[in-house]
Amino acid sequence: MQRISYKFTSFVENPKTRILINNMKKICLIAIAELLILFISSCGGNSSSTSTSTASTATGSQSAISGAAVYNRTCVTCHQGNGAGIPGAYPPLAKSDFLTDKEKTITQVIKGFQGELVVNGVKYNNVMPPQPLNDEEVAAVLTYVNTSFGNSGAAVTTDEVKAVRAKLQ
Ligand code: HEC
Repeated sequence: MQRISYKFTSFVENPKTRILINNMKKICLIAIAELLILFISSCGGNSSSTSTSTASTATGSQSAISGAAVYNRTCVTCHQGNGAGIPGAYPPLAKSDFLTDKEKTITQVIKGFQGELVVNGVKYNNVMPPQPLNDEEVAAVLTYVNTSFGNSGAAVTTDEVKAVRAKLQ
């Protein structure tokens, strides 16, 4: 027993092992510091563009999501860049009287629609697939639609979309 503890003390007190132990301590400290920096930067990254999704859910604001970007990614192929649609196939969003009914419009985007639909007195009978967008994205894209293409409708909030989605389930 004594021999072992002696060996251990001399091992610890050996200048070479001391340097080794000190180096290991330093490495540990650096690792902890790096973890801390990583943690802080991942939490406080509100202003960075890579964490827009966390930023938008944390603040509940819609400004982080661009309605125009969602439109140009999802709706543009059918309803066209100017919102005019394609006669006989895709109804217009520009000056559409359908948009005056907010709940119907939100439902249209979440659930899609198949069958007869009338816009500005013109009948359409086609299929719009459900759009796989979250509440913030639906709010942003419909706010964009309501305030673009010559439309002067009201903004759509995330809460309004949430309420309609809850009813649909
Ligand atoms: C694959 C094509 C397609 C895509 C993508 C699409 N739509 Fe539609 N949309 C349609 C069709 C077709 C109708 C009419 C459905 C019918 O005739 O039953 C329609 C109808 C609508 C209507 C109701 C009628 C009107 O013109 O006011 C709204 C509002 C609407 N779409 C919004 C959107 C929005 C916003 C997006 C993107 C998030 C979108 N759509 C994506 C094809 C599409």
